[in-house]
Amino acid sequence: MITVDSEKCLRCSKCIKDCIVEVLKPGPNGIPFLDPELEKYCLNCQHCLAVCPAGALNCHGVTPEMCAPPGKLPGSAEMFDLLRMRRSCRQYKDENISSTAMETLKNSLAWTPTGCNDHRLFFRIIEDKEEMAFYRQETSRMLKFLIKTGIMALIYPKFKRYLAEIMAGKDVVYRNAPHMIVAATPKNAPCKEADPWIALSYFDLLAQSLGIGTCWCGFGVHAFKWNLKLKKRLELPPGYRIGAVMLFGPPDVAYARATKPVNFNLEK
Ligand SMILES: Cc1cc2nc3c(=O)[nH]c(=O)nc-3n(C[C@H](O)[C@H](O)[C@H](O)COP(=O)(O)O)c2cc1C
Repeated sequence: MITVDSEKCLRCSKCIKDCIVEVLKPGPNGIPFLDPELEKYCLNCQHCLAVCPAGALNCHGVTPEMCAPPGKLPGSAEMFDLLRMRRSCRQYKDENISSTAMETLKNSLAWTPTGCNDHRLFFRIIEDKEEMAFYRQETSRMLKFLIKTGIMALIYPKFKRYLAEIMAGKDVVYRNAPHMIVAATPKNAPCKEADPWIALSYFDLLAQSLGIGTCWCGFGVHAFKWNLKLKKRLELPPGYRIGAVMLFGPPDVAYARATKPVNFNLEK
């Protein structure tokens, strides 16, 4: 349901122009209205509400007063530095990040874009380093078993150089990170492959802007694939599958400079 306050409406049609699914139509009095026959196509993206200069529009129970003002956005130079200085962190302090930073990161996940505005992503966040111990120990147990039986070398031949380190107890999967975030999507989500990666890419940048170290954990995605005990612990909703995993925590390393890109092909 989209309602327009005729007293406030400027009749500027910005909401109509910005509606991706074209469900808002101009009424005879110039006041936009939601065509009841088309309502089923509304994505509830709230662009109409966000674009309205007069705050005249309520969208599915959301009023302009419930939404944040534009705020001060970072400049492009700051954003560029963030992109350039973002590094994969594989050295962490053995401590949790602050609860304030954790809350900020968690809340930010609500604004990730999803295909067709589906927003059925599920996030499991390991907020306490003691809980990470379960994943570390169970993964280590599984890897050592797979190595001893020779299965590991067969299924992951490229992993060979890590085998001795794993047997010696090195955490090559979770890098001793105190936290992890797992993003999962329903099997029938319209963009089930892309949504988790995009969500964690946003999470990544916000975390790094807060001085928190992050690292994609492709190995973790594989660990969850092979070990039902690990996957069960995540308590994913039925029908959900893991898309992407990211480690994070207070970094125990600082970088003195950015890297120089390699293999960068941009058509000139
Ligand atoms: C899809 C993907 C999966 C990754 N998986 C892992 C991983 O399992 N473990 C790890 O230490 N780094 C992982 N990385 C990090 C890359 O190795 C890293 O981005 C690369 O070495 C360049 O370093 P930088 O991120 O600091 O620029 C992954 C990165 C991506 C994009």
